Amino acid sequence: MDPVSNPYSPGAGTPPPYLAGRDDLQEAFRILIGRAAAGNSVQPLVLSGLRGVGKTVLLLRWRSMAEESGWVTAHIEARPESDLRQQLADAVNDLLRQMSRKYRNQDRVDRLKRVATSFVRAAGATVSRGGLTFNVEPEPGVADSGELETDLGELLVELGRAANEEGSGAVILIDELQDAGPERLSGVVGACHRINQERLPVLIVGAGLPTVGRILSDAKSYAERLFDLRSVGPLEGHAQDLAITEPAGALGVELSESALSELRELAGGYPFFIQTHAKFVWDSAVDSPIGDEDVDAASPRADEQLRRSFFAPRYDRATPAERRYMHAMASLGDGHVSSADVAAVIGRRPSDVSVQRDGLLNKGLVYAPERGLVAFTVPHMAAFLRSLPTHEFGADRS
Ligand SMILES: Nc1ncnc2c1ncn2[C@@H]1O[C@H](COP(=O)(O)OP(=O)(O)OP(=O)(O)O)[C@@H](O)[C@H]1O
Ligand SMILES: [Mg+2]
Repeated sequence: MDPVSNPYSPGAGTPPPYLAGRDDLQEAFRILIGRAAAGNSVQPLVLSGLRGVGKTVLLLRWRSMAEESGWVTAHIEARPESDLRQQLADAVNDLLRQMSRKYRNQDRVDRLKRVATSFVRAAGATVSRGGLTFNVEPEPGVADSGELETDLGELLVELGRAANEEGSGAVILIDELQDAGPERLSGVVGACHRINQERLPVLIVGAGLPTVGRILSDAKSYAERLFDLRSVGPLEGHAQDLAITEPAGALGVELSESALSELRELAGGYPFFIQTHAKFVWDSAVDSPIGDEDVDAASPRADEQLRRSFFAPRYDRATPAERRYMHAMASLGDGHVSSADVAAVIGRRPSDVSVQRDGLLNKGLVYAPERGLVAFTVPHMAAFLRSLPTHEFGADRS
């Protein structure tokens, strides 16, 4: 089939041609912004899930939904090396630019700019995206305490009041929340609490790895009641097929039941794997309907691509000792494994290998679903590790 018209979209945050199996999460967001706009109580949504499961594309979908409802939006991705306060200053700058374009009451917008300037100055931040070129003096006494929770809360309340007056709303979407850092996160959660009490149409929603719920609760103990935490898993049942058949069908191409069944087996419902396999199958098939022989012909190349672009770069980020730890995990099975068992496989005491475990946690390659357990953040990582020839991680057990 012509690669030029290949509809599939393997990537990071690349919107899929057909967003399969996430109707409930889209509906939840529709209800969330509807309630916020009506001044009803809300629990902002937070998505949690493994790598490549489709969290970012859902956040982007939510963003479009909010914009379609006339809301202003900003999207940031927390990173261990960035200061979230700085990123929030950029996000607020984005919101204000949209507000100055859309809002009728420009006096209100001017006041917001002054408050935002206070926030930015108190945060010691400089706006790096688009530049804060408001050329206004800060508003004394609002959002200028230097404490993130207070300042962000005050700023968001002002934003919410302005949005409310215009019959609109504002949402900041924060991706990779687990990387925000506990102190900043605590400020954000506290600010969310504040705006929630005011019942204003201003929201912070987010997404992160499976640990995000615990990280939020560690930041503020009431976080689990404040947010509506939803886990995003592999696509189930018919949704896996629809992710493949809908884009093909739109181009007049069909797949046989046996081809679909093989693709289900290969991808295990994981959206990134679905897109990758489907892309290679499309390129190698000659005619519609695509059959299982086309899947068989394409799958070695899809697997190779996954190894090179998805698994190997993560494996390469680990030190030799961390790799040994991962191999020991993989030898114990595909799901959660006990860190004591991992240590036993390596032939050490758990305390002797905690450095490796912590290193992998910090690199985001594994997470601790519960105390004493570890699991990979990347689906199918254990199978990848087991497929490596042993010499790749060395026989050295020092
Ligand atoms: N519901 C879906 N239906 C079809 N394809 C999807 C769906 N969700 C995501 N995808 C595809 O899966 C891939 C991964 O999506 P995305 O980058 O949003 O995952 P993620 O959970 O944010 O991953 P990471 O944790 O690595 O950031 C993309 O290629 C995207 O097009
Ligand atoms: Mg993502």
